[in-house]
Amino acid sequence: MANIGAVTALVGREDAIFADKLNHASLNDAALLSRARFIRYPHLDLTKLEKHLAATDARRKLVISDAVFSMEGDIAPIQQLVALCERYRAFLLLDDAHGFGVLGQQGRGSLFMLNQIANHSPNIVYMATLGKAAGVFGAFIAAQAEIVETLIQSARSYIYTTATPPLLSHALLASLKLIEQDEWRRETLARNIAQLKEGLQSLPWKLLPSNTPIQPLLIGDSNQAVQISQRLREQGLLVPAIRPPTVPQGAARLRISLSAAHQSQDVTRLTQALLELAAS
Ligand SMILES: Cc1ncc(COP(=O)(O)O)c(C=O)c1O
Repeated sequence: MANIGAVTALVGREDAIFADKLNHASLNDAALLSRARFIRYPHLDLTKLEKHLAATDARRKLVISDAVFSMEGDIAPIQQLVALCERYRAFLLLDDAHGFGVLGQQGRGSLFMLNQIANHSPNIVYMATLGKAAGVFGAFIAAQAEIVETLIQSARSYIYTTATPPLLSHALLASLKLIEQDEWRRETLARNIAQLKEGLQSLPWKLLPSNTPIQPLLIGDSNQAVQISQRLREQGLLVPAIRPPTVPQGAARLRISLSAAHQSQDVTRLTQALLELAAS
């Protein structure tokens, strides 16, 4: 809803959107609904993106990217994206659903892994959701004051819907305190990620390169991915199989999501189960 509201408020018919091909579905839907020209560039391919930006005669330009890609776990080259958007006078909408609360000092999100200059760029429109690390519901947008005011005045999915219930705001305040103060949660998460990577090294299936809680295990064949997911489920391990069209053809995968609530023995259970399945 936040993505749909922001994109449709910021661009329209005479404008152009440039989007990473592996962006989240909500960003693609937002782009289509905006009626702006919708140009998708290959995943992380900034050379292609720059060519498109240089060639366009659109009135307004909006580059859209997941900050942490939801089905890959990799991180967008945010610093370079910011530089490109400044050079070509484009807005940059970053969806940090999977970075907020997890990445950067005090879990402040993907932008806080950059230098001060980049993360203060007036071109950035930062969106993060509150249903993942924050464990609540909803989303927020942070941007320069004029953009925020524009969204308040014209983001339709924000205006024409009942406001978030106060009880969620109270729960969120508690979440934000934990996110800010509990560095140990991020440390536990980092340990879990390292343990998983180490434990799965000898598998015939490979983890995609990711340092975030999203650790996709590439299986390839959709049926096999579903079968493995079912076997794991029978053992009490919830690891969904992700198939086309959510991911490209032939790139079915198990989407392992780790959290700070997992303990070392949980990760051991998962790695052992996968090693046994691979051997069977
Ligand atoms: C990158 C990304 N953006 C947006 C969303 C939507 O967030 P929500 O489920 O809180 O609506 C998700 C996943 O749910 C996501 O992975």
